[in-house]
Amino acid sequence: MCGIIGITAMPHSLPRGVASLIVKALLRLEYRGYDSAGVAGIVGNAIVVRKARGKIEEVSRRLGFKEIRSYCMIGHTRWATHGIPSDNNAHPHTDCRNWFAVVHNGILENHAELRRFLEEKGHVFRSDTDTEVLPHLVEDFFLKSEDVMEAFKKAIDAVRGSYAFAMISVHEPDRIFYAKNKNPLVIGLGNGFNAVASDIAALIELTRRIIVLRDGWHGYISPREIKLYNGRGEPVDWRKYVITVEWSIEDASKSGYPHYMLKEIMEQPVALHNTLAGIKKDKAIDKAVDILLDAEKIYVTAAGTSYHAGLYYALLTSILSGTLVHPFIASEYELYTKTISEGDAVIAVSQSGETMDTLNAVREAKKRGARVIAVSNIIESSIPRESNVTIYTRAGPEIGVAATKTFTSQALALYWLSVHHALATGKITRAEASNLLREAEKTPGLTRKAIEKTKPIAERLAEKISGARSIYVLSRGIGVPVAMEGALKVKEIGYIHAEAYPAGESKHGPIALVEEEFPVVFIVPNDPRLVDLLKGNIEEMKSRGALTIGVLSTNTCSECKLDIRIETPTANKLLVPFTHTPFMQLLSYYIAVNKGYDPDKPRNLAKTVTVE
Ligand code: F6R
Repeated sequence: MCGIIGITAMPHSLPRGVASLIVKALLRLEYRGYDSAGVAGIVGNAIVVRKARGKIEEVSRRLGFKEIRSYCMIGHTRWATHGIPSDNNAHPHTDCRNWFAVVHNGILENHAELRRFLEEKGHVFRSDTDTEVLPHLVEDFFLKSEDVMEAFKKAIDAVRGSYAFAMISVHEPDRIFYAKNKNPLVIGLGNGFNAVASDIAALIELTRRIIVLRDGWHGYISPREIKLYNGRGEPVDWRKYVITVEWSIEDASKSGYPHYMLKEIMEQPVALHNTLAGIKKDKAIDKAVDILLDAEKIYVTAAGTSYHAGLYYALLTSILSGTLVHPFIASEYELYTKTISEGDAVIAVSQSGETMDTLNAVREAKKRGARVIAVSNIIESSIPRESNVTIYTRAGPEIGVAATKTFTSQALALYWLSVHHALATGKITRAEASNLLREAEKTPGLTRKAIEKTKPIAERLAEKISGARSIYVLSRGIGVPVAMEGALKVKEIGYIHAEAYPAGESKHGPIALVEEEFPVVFIVPNDPRLVDLLKGNIEEMKSRGALTIGVLSTNTCSECKLDIRIETPTANKLLVPFTHTPFMQLLSYYIAVNKGYDPDKPRNLAKTVTVE
């Protein structure tokens, strides 16, 4: 998705202006996925705009982003929605007189009618984007009032849809005007400067003092001033909303690793340790358990990887509490939320806290009277804000597009919740709960061992199977969500078609595809009953010529017909996400590297999906 940055600093506070900081912040936003980049800055009495299709470093070098000597600048990475990726469609966009330059994330639903209206009035458009209506609207309103804030407010009132806007103007040369509706936007507070960005990670090098904006909020920043209004136009005391984020610069940089994805896989033990420390300290689990105890029905909803963590939770809860949790994919919320009624509980899992599908499910569930428990990695993001309680994972910023450390952190937070819930319902004894919680304490160590043991094998196996056209990842019971997550990683990062399903399903159709050397990965939980069942499924595949790969703990299933054994640390049978996931993450990573693809920026994908 697109990224926004804007910085306004005291003149002469930096010898060469803010352009280098803008470029650095844009590079921090790269991970969100983009096709074009651009900047606009106030220089003297004019706005200088430079933008083009391509990678930030190349475009910035070619067009000289850093040579713009400006103290008030905005920048953008575009991920095309309206209009193809092109130089003209890249942001910022300006009005006819070049008085205003705007960057935008989101989609303006009524852009076509606004464009017609403006063109009839003589405005000339230079792009195919929905965004360009905004600077022209501001220009139009400004001609009447000569007040930039008023014109900007009128313009945002005229557009319908989702947006995060940042705008500069020659008429207020040290101000950046901003507005937010449905797309994330934050303000960063500095000494002698202030900034806006679509993402906390973009600001991490500048400041940790952040205001997370809410829908309808708008205003402007200057180097020494912040003006903030709510959707009704009333002033908001922004001081009440300042938070200090704990992320460090190392968290948001590669720290010597060739890719963020690898760094984030390797960081899992630390992420799990921090998540554990966090959930033990705050009261969110207790509050969430209270909601679950009162609930008639329990649902869990999410998208992609977060859905797999949610499914793990659902299976775990049926094992520990004998309670049926209804999992549903967030984008299908319209169908599933029909069955939600007053007093039900919905657990919404989202690392970013901004995924539109999940947010829609949360909103609909709340409308129907459900209470919502969010599980998120991003403090103050939309889903936590709209939920009754939030269990925060503390995985640190995840820059790689593929979710890795946030998955295991979510699984851990949900495991903790499931155990406490089971204890509160009396389905497990205090001693059993203590035992299960002690097991959870081992997850950082287990994951570290799993990474150490499987990394070299993943690297070698990637070479062998990189050419495969299709892969199955099979498991049973509590291992199925882990298999699903593994298949998603292989698909999105390794660009190999991969399908996961409960192994017992093979004979109901999928086995028809299996031929000589067809790779089938078995996620074998450390559970004798499941091992026994999977043994038969492995045999079934082997006898059709499949290349059978087993991910299993040492000394498990020595009689299984496996061509390749990937040994993981021995652990409690419920801890599959922590023992078995790292191998699949590493395998996908090395397949991508082997094929020459960038694992941090898989094609067609964006990190935070704020459209339906
Ligand atoms: C896959 C991946 C996506 C996300 C999904 C939900 O590696 O990253 O499938 O898991 O887009 O995102 P969040 O968790 O931010 O709601």
